[in-house]
This record gives sequence, C-alpha cells and structure tokens, in this order.
Amino acid sequence: MSMLEKTLGWVDDRFPLTKMWTEHMSAYYAPKNFNFWYFFGSLALMMLVMQIVTGVFLTMNYNPDATLAFASVEYIMRDVEWGWLIRYLHSTGASAFFVIVYLHMFRGLMYGSYKKPRELIWIFGMFIYLALMAEAFMGYLLPWGQMSYWGAQVIISLFGAVPFVGEELAIWIRGDFVISDATLNRFFAFHVIALPIVLLGLVVAHIIALHEVGSNNPDGVEIKKVKGADGIPLDGIPFHPYYSVKDIVGVVVFLFFFSVVIFFMPELGGWFLEKDNFVPANPLKTPEHIVPLWYFTPFYAILRAVPTIGVSQFPGVIAMGMSIVFLFFLPWLDRSPVKSIRFRGPIYKFALAVFTISFIVLGWLGTKPAGGNYLIASQVFSILYFLFFILMPWYTTIDKTKPVPERVTSK
Ligand code: HEM
Repeated sequence: MSMLEKTLGWVDDRFPLTKMWTEHMSAYYAPKNFNFWYFFGSLALMMLVMQIVTGVFLTMNYNPDATLAFASVEYIMRDVEWGWLIRYLHSTGASAFFVIVYLHMFRGLMYGSYKKPRELIWIFGMFIYLALMAEAFMGYLLPWGQMSYWGAQVIISLFGAVPFVGEELAIWIRGDFVISDATLNRFFAFHVIALPIVLLGLVVAHIIALHEVGSNNPDGVEIKKVKGADGIPLDGIPFHPYYSVKDIVGVVVFLFFFSVVIFFMPELGGWFLEKDNFVPANPLKTPEHIVPLWYFTPFYAILRAVPTIGVSQFPGVIAMGMSIVFLFFLPWLDRSPVKSIRFRGPIYKFALAVFTISFIVLGWLGTKPAGGNYLIASQVFSILYFLFFILMPWYTTIDKTKPVPERVTSK
C-alpha cells in the first residue's frame, strides 16, 4: 500500500472523503445528453469563487469610509500591483455572473427543469438569485461614485412607499435620513461577509437537492426510470470524468470571451461600469438619469411602468416585487405533462419567446427616460411579462404536446 493510499485510508476512517467523492463525482450518474446549456451551472460556481477571491484581495486595499472610499478604489486602480486587474475581474465579473445566471435560468425554462421532482432546486435557485441581486446592489455602493450614491438613494427610497411604516423603514435601512457613511459601513458588512455566506450556503443546498433527485436533461426524460441490472441508469454516465472534463471546455471558452472584455472593454461602454460612477458621490448634485446596471433594468422598467397613486410609487413597487415572486411559483403554474420544449406544443414555445423578448426589451427600456413612447412600451411589455405567468396554468393545459420517449434521444 502506497503512502498516499495509507493517508487516504486514515482520513476515510475519520471523514467520508472517498464516500463523498464517489457519491457526488465518480458514481453520480448524469444524463448522457447534456448540451451547451448545461455549462452554466459549473460556470456560475466558478464565478462565485472568482468573485470571492477577487473580493478578498480588493478588501485588502479598499476603505469603507465615505471620505476615503472613492479614492481607495482609484488607488487600487492606479497604484496597487495588479489592482486594476483584480478590480475589473470583480466589477466585470459581476456582470458576467448575471449573464451566466440568466442563461442558467433560461435553460430551466426551456427544459422544464423546475418541474416535479426539482421544485426545490428551483426554489433554492430563486433564493440564490435574490441574494445575488442584494449582493450586487450593495457592492455597487462601495466605490462611492455618483451612480453608487444616487442608485442606492432611489432604491432605498422605494421602501418609503410602503404605507404607514415606509419612511421609518427607509431610515432604518439607511441608518440615516440620506445615504451616508452609516449606509456605506453596513452595506460593506453585508457585501463582504453576510451575503457571501448566505450565497455559499444556498449553493450547497441547491446542489444537494440536485444530487438527491438527479439532473434533468434537454429531453426532459427521467433517466432513473430505466436502469440496468447493476442499478445504474442506462442513459447515465459518471459525472467524473465525463462532465468534469467537458465542463473544463466550457470554462476555457468562457474565459476566452471574458478576457476579451476584461482586457479590451472592461466597462463595456457604460453597461458594466457606468460613466457617472467615475465621478465621486455628490449628495448635492443629482445625475441627469439615474439608471441601475443592466441586470436590474428589466425590473426598473416594470417599476416605472406602473402609474403612481398621487406621489406614491407603491403600486410600481408591488409590481416589481410580483415580477420576481411569480418566478418562485413556476413549478406550480406550469401544468404541462411534459418538461422539455422539444415535446411541448406551439403555445408554450410562443409564450416563452414573447416572455424572453419582453424581458430583454424591458431591460433596454429601463435604461431610457420613463416618458412618452418609452413609457407606453414599458407598459405593454410589462403586461406581456406578467401574462406569461398569469395565463400559464391555462395555456400549458390546452397546449398540444408530443409523446415523450422512454429513453433520451440524443446520440
Ligand atoms: C450562484 C448561482 C448558481 C450556481 C453556482 C448554480 C449551480 C448549479 C449547478 C452546478 C447545477 C448543475 C449543472 C447544471 O445543470 O447546469 C445547477 C442546476 C440547476 N440550477 Fe443552478 N446555480 C445557481 C443559480 C441558479 C438560479 C438563480 C436558478 C433558478 C432560479 C437555478 C436553477 C437550477 C436548476 C432548475 C437546475 C437543474 C437543471 C437541470 O437539471 O436541468 N440555479 N445549478
């Protein structure tokens, strides 16, 4: 017995290392027909690690003090060795993370991955999404630029729209009457420690739930239903080495595109880092247009599409909240007998296309001023967005689906 085997044996007697490796890697049987869309889970995992690692190094030189924060970021960009790279990996990384997570969620919509028995994977995913939004929102205040300041001001003021307790609530969140040093300190604490812990915990729960029921696949066929004499799904292959190696291909291709952005266009023309955020926060001067980063703009467009009651934005706040709440209920709104879009009828395909287009157009409208034709368009696309969910129990029932095969169809 080699020294390595002996050491492993010693550990295994005290900690289930080999058992965990077998259960989750070498004897975790994943469907053999995963396609391009199945890269995004492992990529999301990689981005989470990248954000945490670059975040730790940023924290070493960043100063969470309203009088020092902006300058400390400039110091990181200009004077700290490789600081510019670490900062861009983190700021552009945040946008890349959202690109990946949106594609990952879209895959779920295409293949019905949220349907029984994967409802909890989806619910954990939705909580991850909420935590990720909070993480990004709080992180954006830290550089203490104009958009950091005024973006936070606008969003926290929305809590002021809640009847009766609103104003108190907004003050409680800010820790002051306006965004101030107190706000910066607490956002820093949440951004660097509280939310990352929550995110990591949720991701572990997400994957435990996934490995309990097994992955879905582009055909939406349950591979556990057809097993060989050895009890192994006939359409399953061990995650390691097949998908551990395949996922590396996804990582390499992703890093290629990511590097192009990082090295040649890290701000992506204001989409990943807004121009106004290179100006230090000035509480006395409101920027002309206050626009959140692209991953929030669909919801921002919905918020502004709903008319106010007097000066209260409460109806818009409710609509914005509902636009996310509906997503949680997808597993129960979708009554289709089939999972994958490959076997669904034309109505679902049409509904998903309209929903996707609406989400993208709302994202664009959220960057425009809320008036005139932009406002009307926001209202139309918000209605289309909501109809996807509200009508879902009906159209998934009447849609004409195709028979689902016993085994996966892809070669
Ligand atoms: C930090 C963010 C996230 C990480 C690290 C993550 C990680 C993963 C991984 C590694 C997988 C397995 C590989 C794959 O199927 O692609 C997976 C599957 C899945 N994830 Fe996520 N995920 C994240 C966010 C989300 C979100 C926001 C949702 C939806 C709201 C979601 C829903 C799902 C579903 C439904 C599956 C099962 C897919 C299937 O089997 O077809 N995930 N996730």
